[in-house]
Amino acid sequence: MTTPRSEAVERTFAGIAPRYDFANHLLSFGIDYSWRRLLVHSCSASHPDKVLDLATGSGDVAFALERALPKEADVIGLDFCQPMLDQARLKWKDRGSPSNLKFLHGDCLDLSFADGSFDAITMAFGFRNLEDRPRGLSEMLRVLRPGGRLHLLEFSQPFLVIRPFYYFYLRAVLPLFAWLVTGDRKAYQYLGSSIQGFPDRRGLTGELLEAGFGKVSARPLTGAIVALHVAEKKSSD
Ligand SMILES: C[S@@+](CC[C@H](N)C(=O)[O-])C[C@H]1O[C@@H](n2cnc3c(N)ncnc32)[C@H](O)[C@@H]1O
Repeated sequence: MTTPRSEAVERTFAGIAPRYDFANHLLSFGIDYSWRRLLVHSCSASHPDKVLDLATGSGDVAFALERALPKEADVIGLDFCQPMLDQARLKWKDRGSPSNLKFLHGDCLDLSFADGSFDAITMAFGFRNLEDRPRGLSEMLRVLRPGGRLHLLEFSQPFLVIRPFYYFYLRAVLPLFAWLVTGDRKAYQYLGSSIQGFPDRRGLTGELLEAGFGKVSARPLTGAIVALHVAEKKSSD
């Protein structure tokens, strides 16, 4: 997999932003709803007061967190793609502008928050797109409080029996469908290649430990097409 470049990633998502949600649900046959639900449940189960949703995109994880947590809890959704944030802000207004949910423009590789600002970080399908993953993890560790957790939902490498069908879907079917829905075939060719080149659960667990996280758990979802990793910042950090 070639390293994704931030400018190219930003441009890609800017191009598909208005159709992103629809394409997502269609191309995953609606399974993405349940993946995000598990992510939000994993995060809300530890009753965090302050949560940062990185690479929030059109904001679905941030909205679900806002609904799942008590009113006193603050949720911030952050993304560097303005057209994706514009989609999130439209939904935010439709939902009565909840004051405990904010959307900010920013780069995951250079977070503008003080050390230890958050009890939890969530990230759904954004980590794969980072130009510099170790740097992203070091920023996440920095802004988490000791004992705080990162809940990372990302594509993974599926169980061997499914791989041939899945890779065929990624290479042949997905770009074609996506072209019809979004008019942008290239964006989804990028999606397919970025997924195929991404580490499996063991590899990603290694990256998280290497970055300095303490305990890491990994849960395969839908035949390990996707995995939910939970990584805890050591209390002594
Ligand atoms: C596949 S979308 C995921 C959006 C959302 N989390 C979801 O579950 O639908 C990936 C998002 O990551 C954002 N992104 C990628 N690299 C980023 C970075 N370095 N800083 C901030 N956002 C980034 C993109 O702009 C895009 O909105």
